[in-house]
Amino acid sequence: PPQSSSSLHSIPKQSSFGIAFDIDGVILRGQRPIANSPKALKRLYDDSGALKFPFLFLTNGGGFPESKRASELSNLLNVKILPSQVVQGHSPFRTLLNRFENELIVATGKGVPAEVMSEYGFKRVLSLDEYASYFDHIDPVAHYKGWTSTKASNWPRNSPKSVSSRNLISDKVKAAFVVSDPVDWGRNIQVLCDILTSGGLPGEKHGCQPPLYFAADDLQYQAAFPSERLGMGAFRIALESIFNRIHDKSLEYTCFGKPNPFVLRNAEAILKEIQKSSCQCDAIEENAEQGSHSFKTLYMIGDNPLVDVKGAHQAGSPWFSILTRTGVFKQKENHAEYPAHLVVDTVEEAVEFILKREV
Ligand code: G3P
Ligand code: MG
Repeated sequence: PPQSSSSLHSIPKQSSFGIAFDIDGVILRGQRPIANSPKALKRLYDDSGALKFPFLFLTNGGGFPESKRASELSNLLNVKILPSQVVQGHSPFRTLLNRFENELIVATGKGVPAEVMSEYGFKRVLSLDEYASYFDHIDPVAHYKGWTSTKASNWPRNSPKSVSSRNLISDKVKAAFVVSDPVDWGRNIQVLCDILTSGGLPGEKHGCQPPLYFAADDLQYQAAFPSERLGMGAFRIALESIFNRIHDKSLEYTCFGKPNPFVLRNAEAILKEIQKSSCQCDAIEENAEQGSHSFKTLYMIGDNPLVDVKGAHQAGSPWFSILTRTGVFKQKENHAEYPAHLVVDTVEEAVEFILKREV
């Protein structure tokens, strides 16, 4: 039966469930909310605007710092989203800080990839365009593109002024990070091949390949265009195919993002934190401190069977996958290879199902 408003007051203070929302194809298409997503999210807050049930966004997209993405989502969706509720494909790049904090690294992708990495604490980071601007003629078709080249005027970020950019073209790049979908694939493939085949210094002959990290590996994703668009996984295939043809060793790389189960496990830990900070009850805090709180069910609401549903499957209990028909997946029947626990038309239906089941 439909929930009466009075039953909503008897919600246990410590929620037994949490929700992870995919963004592209579930909450937004391009820059636009879809499927009544603002209304669906509003149901997770009380009348005063306080969070009633723990949720976060778990997207393979990115390109902007979590704080900026949170305020952008708050404006688009009309609810208050905290930076801690935004987990992007590149968010786990933070975990590599101990390895590359003071090393020269290159970051690429739409948005502000170098700023993203600087916010995580990396001290010597340049965007691929900034880096390329130090090498004359590195992109032989650049002058046909009609864009301005970006010199690294504000580099090094967060570093003492005494660290000069003078040494840049004699320093080796120690790692390359594909933070978000690359804008100019041709230029990116050229410059990444230069960095990776040379051992970190374009123009040099064959050194050891620096580590390469991708924020995600989505072959396709749902944006504003009616059919799916090529994602970071497609770019990875293009780069890898070309690299393997021009170099004697195969490309080595690591992909983060869903469907890696550690991404969902990390989301679970963050949901616990969100639960803890939005719940004022002393007894609950005590329990949480003892680490005894665990969710009975965690819902992953996504539009991509190979990414969102596969991720939930691989993470196992307590994850419950819900597939919407607003993005990559559009079929009537459940996906054959990665069937979700539930298929619905929209995120609004998904939230309705969860609240009926849980509250
Ligand atoms: O570029 C974004 C895309 O690969 C996926 O985003 O929110 O569907 O995980 P999302
Ligand atoms: Mg999606």
